[in-house]
Formats: sequence, structure tokens, C-alpha cells
Amino acid sequence: MADEVLGIDVGGTGIKGAPVNVETGELTGERFRIKTPQPATPEAMVAVMGEVARHFNWHGRIGVGFPAVIRHGIVRTAANIDGSWIGTNIAEMVTKETGCAAIFANDADAAGLAEMHFGAAKGKSGVVMMITLGTGIGSAIFLNGAMYPNAEIGHLIVRGKDAEQRICGYVRDHDDVWANEKTGKHLTEYFHELERLLWPDLFVVGGGGSKEFDALAPLIHIETPMVPAQMLNLAGIVGAALVGAGIGK
Ligand code: BGC
Repeated sequence: MADEVLGIDVGGTGIKGAPVNVETGELTGERFRIKTPQPATPEAMVAVMGEVARHFNWHGRIGVGFPAVIRHGIVRTAANIDGSWIGTNIAEMVTKETGCAAIFANDADAAGLAEMHFGAAKGKSGVVMMITLGTGIGSAIFLNGAMYPNAEIGHLIVRGKDAEQRICGYVRDHDDVWANEKTGKHLTEYFHELERLLWPDLFVVGGGGSKEFDALAPLIHIETPMVPAQMLNLAGIVGAALVGAGIGK
């Protein structure tokens, strides 16, 4: 396993990267961020990922967390990204742009890996579910530390509506505040469905919404223990580096 991998976290507003020591989970260089280009087409975004690699004068492995289902390097969904992404071989494009071996994974899977290895779920066995609350709802599922990739349970249908649209849409329309009664009610229904169908042992809540965890958690009434992610905005980069190191496959 390569000790140092460049981790890149691709989001709707920013593309962030840093070299990471994958043994310790520590950044070995300062985080570098570029605004996500608009429109966020494959060509424009791959060029930005190339810029991040050149910023670090990178010649090693690259791991990327990307907000879509990624199977065998190919983008399969586009809930919150430009539709032209579907079907692109993103890993190949980034390798062509940077000359580096690149491995991609879903962004929530990457963040979940980081929490599993170095954060809130370190050493936890049983079924751990990481749910990220942000522009969309991301999800990652682990059984005794092994990941079930590309789970898209943020799109579970609750009360006839895609949970992500229902919950994130409401938050967007209300000043991006997560800790309010209505969102608490929606999240209670959502997490309750996950409990009922999948019986997890632990929920780890990450993403932007987790910054309000202390105010939000008392509004979510479920049985399963729920803890906030610990790695904050670094989970995406560190997890991406783990992906690049071949961990979680
Ligand atoms: C996408 C997921 C992604 C999540 C968080 C959802 O809309 O379907 O693949 O993990 O947003 O970015």
C-alpha cells in the first residue's frame, strides 16, 4: 500500500485536495480548494482535478470521492451533478489529465471509510451506517468494517417522496438551517425507515448538517445510537485517499 495518496473530494461548490498519509489519516500538505466550475461538466471538472494534482506537483496515486454512484470507474447516476456525467469513464479521464493512477468512489463511501478508520466509527463492528446531510443525502454501509459500496439510501422513498428531495429541499428553502422542528420530524421518519428495514447498530451523521448535531440530535427520535462524524470537512479528502490506496474495495 502506498503511504501517501492525493485525496480529492469533489463537491457541488468546491473541489478540495490534499496529500494524505493513509496509515495515520493525517494530511501531509495544506488543503487546496478550487471552486467547482459551472456548468459542472466532465471536461471542466476533470481540468480542475488536474489543477489540484499540479498544485501539489503530484506523481503518485490519486483517490477521489465523487457525488454519484461509481462502478468500475464509470459514473452511473447524476442526482446533483450535470446529467452529461452519466456513462463517463472518469478514472480514465483523470489519469489522462494527470498521468497518475486514479481510483474513484462515491463521496459518502469515502467519508464513511475515513470515519471507520480514523473517526467516530473506529473499531466498531456490526452494521454501521454513515449518513451525510448536505446538498444531498449520502450514505455508506459497513458490516464489521467491510463496506457495501454505492448504497443510495438517501433516495429512499418516504411518504411518497424521495427523502433527499424532501429533507434537503426543505433545508435549502429555510436558510440552510438543519436544526428545526420540521427537519427533525422529517429526519425522524427517515431514520426510522432505515431502522425498520436495515436494523443498523450505529448511525454516524456527517456532512454540513452534522455541524448542527448538538441542536439537531434531540429533534430526531429513534432507538439506534447516533453520533456525529469526527473528521468534519476532512473526512472527504482522507477517505478519498484511502480509496486511492485501494482500501474499501
Ligand atoms: C447522490 C449520492 C451522493 C450524495 C451526497 C446524492 O444525491 O445520489 O451518490 O453520495 O448525494 O453527495
